[in-house]
Amino acid sequence: MSGTQGQAPVPGAGDGTRVVRAGLPEPVKYEPTLPGPVFAAHYHLPGEPTGAYTYGRDENPTWTHLERAIGGLEAPGESDVETLVFASGMAAISSVLFSQLRSGDAVVLPSDGYQALPLVRGQLEAYGIEVRTAPTGGDAQLRVLDGARLLWIETPSNPGLDVCDVRRLVEEAHARGALVAVDNTLATPLGQRPLELGADFSVASGTKQLTGHGDVLLGYVTGRDPEAMAAVRRWRKIVGAIPGPMEAWLAHRSLATLQLRVERQNATALAVAEALQDWPEDLAVRYPGLPKDPSHAVAAGQMRRFGCVVSFTLPTRARAERFLEELRLVDDATSFGGVRSTAERRGRWGGDDVPEGFIRMSVGAEDTEDLVADVLRALEASAR
Ligand SMILES: Cc1ncc(COP(=O)(O)O)c(C=O)c1O
Repeated sequence: MSGTQGQAPVPGAGDGTRVVRAGLPEPVKYEPTLPGPVFAAHYHLPGEPTGAYTYGRDENPTWTHLERAIGGLEAPGESDVETLVFASGMAAISSVLFSQLRSGDAVVLPSDGYQALPLVRGQLEAYGIEVRTAPTGGDAQLRVLDGARLLWIETPSNPGLDVCDVRRLVEEAHARGALVAVDNTLATPLGQRPLELGADFSVASGTKQLTGHGDVLLGYVTGRDPEAMAAVRRWRKIVGAIPGPMEAWLAHRSLATLQLRVERQNATALAVAEALQDWPEDLAVRYPGLPKDPSHAVAAGQMRRFGCVVSFTLPTRARAERFLEELRLVDDATSFGGVRSTAERRGRWGGDDVPEGFIRMSVGAEDTEDLVADVLRALEASAR
């Protein structure tokens, strides 16, 4: 097993340099730079069952490299953080909520977060946990924080793209003895670093822009508190929500292009948002990187990049459906963060509190001019 220590980070290196080297083991003659996936249900284990690799549900060297890579991006230069990878973003989210909360505890969730959170809410309540919700915008979760054991933040929120002030919420939560977890899916660690903003956990779906090709489901939790992370690790072992070695390896390989993808996709997202904003109809465009966006001031204070998701609202459901049909370079599909642009009428799922004509668009790595032209042409054609 090669390189369990990993290469030291290059001091002062930029994001592009950091992602291409993230999590790589020390070079070993005749070994590949990034070792291939290790397919193992068990490892040779004579004698006492101790050490790093004993059984495949507990540890895998391919996860180790990826966990080191993600940890180095979420909390550069910090050696005391731990990252654990999971089978999906939901597995990662559930691992924090269900390992940290007990019957009788209270938790604060966003009322406008990812649409599977209400399902989680039902399960938490079935276990005797009090669930309170409030919107992301205006730091409204502060109002229901008293006595809570955990505050769950999703910023920017999906799909509404509201932003809350993480430092402020963390300060207030910690003063009341509550832990804070931030869903960092939309921003990626190159866009926002929740642990630096004071959060206890940064949790994300790696299915989205982190891996960026729409072909891998993955999740992770990064945290600093050893006791809390031990409970998360125990949860992973109990539930067995582990990524396959192939998925973990594909994710690590994809990380090398994270900076390139994020730069391109986010710059194009801003161009798309600007074009939509300039359209003669009022489309209620949301993008935290737009200077006029209600989230922009708070976002600019805590984000380094503003993501690849743009949302806007067409006047009717029929118009939105026509718009999606007219697009040539954008697939009508859910999820976000991939190199191929996607868009969907979010109301079709029934889980989000959005108007019928609400569109969530994920901007890919196509040429900016091509994508903007496609969106404008589809707007025009769908208006006829
Ligand atoms: C903000 C956010 N968190 C978590 C998830 C869940 O991730 P996964 O689909 O990898 O389980 C999603 C999925 O869309 C999401 O948008």
